[in-house]
Amino acid sequence: MKKLLCLACMAALLASCSCDPTPQKSFLDLARARFAVREYAQVPVEQAKIDSILEAGRLAPTAKNVQPQHIYVLQSEEAIAKINQLTRCAYHAPVVFLVCYDTDLVWTKDGANSGDMDCSIVGTQMMLEATELGLGTCWVKWFEPAEVAAAFNLPANHKPSFLMPCGYAAEGVQPHANHFSRKPLSETVTYK
Ligand SMILES: Cc1cc2nc3c(=O)[nH]c(=O)nc-3n(C[C@H](O)[C@H](O)[C@H](O)COP(=O)(O)O)c2cc1C
Repeated sequence: MKKLLCLACMAALLASCSCDPTPQKSFLDLARARFAVREYAQVPVEQAKIDSILEAGRLAPTAKNVQPQHIYVLQSEEAIAKINQLTRCAYHAPVVFLVCYDTDLVWTKDGANSGDMDCSIVGTQMMLEATELGLGTCWVKWFEPAEVAAAFNLPANHKPSFLMPCGYAAEGVQPHANHFSRKPLSETVTYK
C-alpha cells in the first residue's frame, strides 16, 4: 500500500512538473527536417492535423494585422482532380492548400501590397506545423493564378498566392539534392 501511494505521488509530481520528460525537437531541428515532398502516399490526412496546420497559419503575423489570407482546402476527389489538371506540381497529394489573399483587405502602399508576403508567413508556419505532425508539403508557384481562380469559382477579391500540396510522403521518398545545397552565411549575410 505504501509503495502504491509512493508511486501515485511520483506520478502526480511528474504530471505537475512543467518540464516535459520527452525530448523536444528544437526549432532548427524542425527546419532541417522539412524538405519538398513531390510524391505522396494515397492515404487521407486526419482532420485534426489539417486543423492544427490551419491554426499554425492563423497565428501568423500579417501587415497591420489585417489577416488578408483566405485558404481553400482542396481535398474532394473533384477538387484534387481539377488541381492536378491545372498544374503538374500538385503531385497528387491528398490535400492541397490554395492560399489566397483578399485584395479588399490587404495592406497597400504606393501601389504595392503585402499580400504575397503575408501569405508566405502564413504558409511557412503551416508548412513547419505539417512537418512537426509527420506530414510532407511542397511550396508551389507553378500554376496560372487566373486559371485556378476561374476553375474554383473564387470571388474576384481572392487572389491565389501559392499552392501547398500536403500529405504523408510516399514510402522511400528522399529529399532532392537541392535540399542539401544551401549557400554559406558568408554569401548571404553582411554585418555593417
Ligand atoms: C516560392 C517558392 C516556389 C516554389 N515553387 C515550386 C514549384 O512550383 N514546384 C515545385 O516542385 N517546387 C517548388 N518549390 C520548392 C523548391 O524547389 C524547394 O523548396 C527548393 O528546391 C529547396 O528544396 P527543399 O524544400 O527540399 O529544401 C518552390 C519553393 C518556393 C519557396
